[in-house]
Amino acid sequence: MGARFGARAAILVETTLLRRRAADKLAGLGDISDWLFTDEALQQATAASVARHRARRLAGLLVHDVTCSIGTELAALRSTVSRVVGSDIDPVRLKMARHNLGAPDGGVDLCRADALHPVTRDAAVVVDPARRSSGRRRFNPADYQPGLGSLLDTYRGRDLVVKCSPGIDFDHVGRLGFDGEIEVTSYCGSVREACLWSAGLAGRDVRRRASVLDRGGQVTQITSAEPDDCPVRPAGRWIIDPDGAIVRAGLVRHYGARHGLWQLDPDIAYLSGDRLPPGERGFEVLEQLAFDERRLRQALTRLDCGALEILVRGVGVDPDMLRRRLRLRGSRPLSVVIARIGSGAASRATAFVCRSLGVTPGYADGDY
Ligand SMILES: C[S@@+](CC[C@H](N)C(=O)[O-])C[C@H]1O[C@@H](n2cnc3c(N)ncnc32)[C@H](O)[C@@H]1O
Repeated sequence: MGARFGARAAILVETTLLRRRAADKLAGLGDISDWLFTDEALQQATAASVARHRARRLAGLLVHDVTCSIGTELAALRSTVSRVVGSDIDPVRLKMARHNLGAPDGGVDLCRADALHPVTRDAAVVVDPARRSSGRRRFNPADYQPGLGSLLDTYRGRDLVVKCSPGIDFDHVGRLGFDGEIEVTSYCGSVREACLWSAGLAGRDVRRRASVLDRGGQVTQITSAEPDDCPVRPAGRWIIDPDGAIVRAGLVRHYGARHGLWQLDPDIAYLSGDRLPPGERGFEVLEQLAFDERRLRQALTRLDCGALEILVRGVGVDPDMLRRRLRLRGSRPLSVVIARIGSGAASRATAFVCRSLGVTPGYADGDY
């Protein structure tokens, strides 16, 4: 290969490897077999399923992606919106986007521009600021490129969508003057992003939304506009660990209310119920005991437990260390849910030994 392609051999090898990595992450955007990437651009690219979900929400609008990079979101947007414009400050990425989208004939207008100096007037603006540079993540929204505060100031009064880190401090976003909807999205059980939708694009009375995407393209959504009457009661037949997007969006009670579930504790995100919500993975309670390693080992041994899945909330337990110390030798796969139940002096760590049933979440690679 070196003899045939000379100095370009290394780039060809890298491009081939990046195309292989992209095949899974960007599946669903059409034929990407001849796309160009850099390693960092591929890491930063929005996973296709999430990009397509966002594109569906923007269907029919005129949209400008002002940090378009190599064109992933544009590829999703062009099949739903009325017209789409892309720009980026990086000339190399823009050239890659041109190639990837078949521009100028690929249904997308592209130009080089700084997102903080708007070049369109009436379009809804989509921004995915860089949160990673030279392999390092930037957690402070002021360090995003462009910074979140500057973006919100630049586009105040316009329809704006900003993809942010799922861990972003929602109160901080409010202090920057954002008063729209925050949507937390997960894909195959892994929380991918928190997306800000300005008031004009937000759902009616919606301040928070959780969107749970599965591999088959199904989307389950729950919003803060729904009722949140969710009582606190002892465990019923099932314990449910809601999807991370629901927990992160603060919509556990809303989810519980929708499905007739109850909380085990007002401060713990586990829900319980006598019926499983459709498509939900559940933990059927076999035994409940005060959490104590010796008693837990006895119970698990009696139940012939081998492989053990450990879920913990509100208790300082390292699941891997605990699993090693338990030294289980049985044949039956079981789960244990450990949670602090109750408050103050009455609070106690409780273990629920369970049999798990239903959809097992998969974990997607790559995005941040
Ligand atoms: C996280 S990437 C966007 C990824 C894109 N959404 C995708 O799915 O492929 C962030 C992009 O913002 C661009 N960028 C950073 N600062 C910018 C600025 N001031 N104006 C325009 N683009 C900027 C970077 O060049 C980079 O391509």
